[in-house]
Amino acid sequence: MARITASVFTSHVPAIGAAIDLGRTQDAYWQPVFKGYEYSQQWMKDNKPDVVFLVYNDHATAFSLDLIPTFAIGTAESYAPADEGWGPRPVPTVVGHPDLASHIAQSVIQQDFDLTIVNKMDVDHGLTVPLSLMCGQPGPGEGWPCPVIPFAVNVVQYPVPSGQRCFNLGRAIRNAVESYDEDLNVHIWGTGGMSHQLQGARAGLINKEWDLAFLDRLVDNPHGLAKMPHIDYVREAGSEGIELVMWLIARGAMSDIDSPAPVPKVAHRFYHVPASNTAVGHLILENQ
Ligand code: DHB
Ligand code: FE
Repeated sequence: MARITASVFTSHVPAIGAAIDLGRTQDAYWQPVFKGYEYSQQWMKDNKPDVVFLVYNDHATAFSLDLIPTFAIGTAESYAPADEGWGPRPVPTVVGHPDLASHIAQSVIQQDFDLTIVNKMDVDHGLTVPLSLMCGQPGPGEGWPCPVIPFAVNVVQYPVPSGQRCFNLGRAIRNAVESYDEDLNVHIWGTGGMSHQLQGARAGLINKEWDLAFLDRLVDNPHGLAKMPHIDYVREAGSEGIELVMWLIARGAMSDIDSPAPVPKVAHRFYHVPASNTAVGHLILENQ
């Protein structure tokens, strides 16, 4: 059977992608950010997954106010990097895993979560920046290290899903993966966040104390964290801090107090401010 062995949590700031693409990673401003991912890039090589299930949000790129799926699973063969206004990022096309993605769609929908099925979509910084941070920049002619199943969550236009629903969905995804016949090592990533607000009177808001407590609770008490209402995210972590509900999907797919395995091991933890307007947070958890 397939198994989820690890989860990765990381912010997705578009300027990080630009810093990589423009060769600026060793600039004084960016160097501390990329230093936090040196361990992670080696970890990816040492723990190479067969498939990454990548939970992220689209930023009105593939979707728009015309069409707002709450949860959308990519079942396509491939996904092109999107043009977000400066041309597509010079990174490889993302290769999908249509067979596992279709199985997960079938299983998760039968567990009463209504997913939108996406057979054609471009992927924006929400997906490509986490891949760049974890995998580095692929050389000419190289692809990403493994297939990726994109899973887009609406955290842009209210109403957005609750933390509890995201956590429960993660558990359904875990069941789905474990009912797939082929032996596959699957990693699940939760991306976006941490505290940031890009607009309005509180633009530039960062809340380090709250972010660090979120990281602690995500590891030790995800059930309690899942109960946190939206207003707390927005008040404490800014209007775009709501992206953090996506981390609960990945955490819900890992072992927890209701499964026989113990709490996952923290392989790596990193936090840094500033990166553009966002507090960069990052965790790697391994199921034991
Ligand atoms: C920034 C952060 C985001 O999450 C995003 O989607 C766009 C911009 C920023 O910090 O600049
Ligand atoms: Fe974002």
